[in-house]
Amino acid sequence: MAYNVEKIRADFPSLYSGTAFFDGPGGSQTPTPVAQAISHALISPLSNRGVTTESERNANEIVLEYRSAVADLVGGEAKGVVYGRSWTQLVYDFSRTISKSWGPGDEIVVSNLDHDSNVRPWIQAAEARGATVKWAKFDTTTGELSVEEVANQLSNKTKFVSITGASNVIGTKPNLSAIGKEVHKVGALFAVDGVHLTPHAPIDVKAIGADFFGFSSYKMLGPHCGSMIADPALLESLHNDKLLPSTMDVPERFEFGTLPYEIMAGATAAINYTAGLDAAAAGTRREKILFSMNSLDEYEQELFAHLRREITSIPGITCFGSATDRTPTLFFQLGNKASVDVYKALAQRNINAPASNFYALECSRALGLGDTGAVRAGLAPYTTKDDVDRLVGALDEIARS
Ligand SMILES: Cc1ncc(COP(=O)(O)O)c(C=O)c1O
Repeated sequence: MAYNVEKIRADFPSLYSGTAFFDGPGGSQTPTPVAQAISHALISPLSNRGVTTESERNANEIVLEYRSAVADLVGGEAKGVVYGRSWTQLVYDFSRTISKSWGPGDEIVVSNLDHDSNVRPWIQAAEARGATVKWAKFDTTTGELSVEEVANQLSNKTKFVSITGASNVIGTKPNLSAIGKEVHKVGALFAVDGVHLTPHAPIDVKAIGADFFGFSSYKMLGPHCGSMIADPALLESLHNDKLLPSTMDVPERFEFGTLPYEIMAGATAAINYTAGLDAAAAGTRREKILFSMNSLDEYEQELFAHLRREITSIPGITCFGSATDRTPTLFFQLGNKASVDVYKALAQRNINAPASNFYALECSRALGLGDTGAVRAGLAPYTTKDDVDRLVGALDEIARS
């Protein structure tokens, strides 16, 4: 592995602030090449997409390059990549379209491990169509969401299942490919919220069996936008509401209005940057991404093991979730101290680890944390052992104060 965290850190001007950033699951810091790509797109000749003028061609190339980069990131097809402002916006749009075929007697399945953006829009769409919602629930002791639990909610009435790729608070990574197989056995569609998973693991949407898969670029070194990835043939079969003069082409007909070319250029640059996280990565962009994401996973898991070992010595600490397969994200409380006070005390020490339910509302409630939640510390590609030791030292000090 040629994962060199110090070399990576040099590309992030915001790290010169001296802040230790553990708020990556909420949004990561941005490397210079991403900002440069945004700026370059904006100051180059740029018009609406087309093929006649240079400025039109620039816009067109940015869009096509974005789709091909996203396809390489997740193992999908470029024509199946839909741009969106955020995952939440994409889920709302797609839930309204997909649910057009649901009716009374039909069932959909969501889980209480998920971020609310992968719960509420599907529930609201089901309610509007008279369909029934079934819940797959995680084990609150271990944090695991088992394949059996999801399978138990399925029947020949199930039309649609949406499950997170990883919990954005306790990090649990459900066994997606096994769940996907169960969902397809009953002939339902399977959607995966990959927003918290994609920044931490190599993704292969075909191996997962995800009919829909989405992630947000701003959680993985890019600008604020998201993508929904599906088989182009599946997109063709969906009939969304759209403006009359806008194209029927896929994926364009799911992307409303004029696209933000500069943001798309930045998102592509973030994927290209990710492909080079491990200097030893070689081959096609897809091969480099898989290699670099495996190296990042190895690096983060080692650091996470260190964090979990060290944090246990802090008086009164309670960590939630202990799933076997999880992202490097810790959700914890410090004795009887209010989590918001712990967050503020850390902030005074230039350490960013906020406290909230982080919109994983059902998960926070199931854990007995109500709507308040707890403190979250997530690792990112630029996190060092020194950052982790600073966090542990500060928590120890706060716990004893
Ligand atoms: C797992 C997960 N899903 C969805 C979202 C929402 O993403 P977006 O801000 O792109 O709507 C988040 C954001 O925190 C998340 O962590």
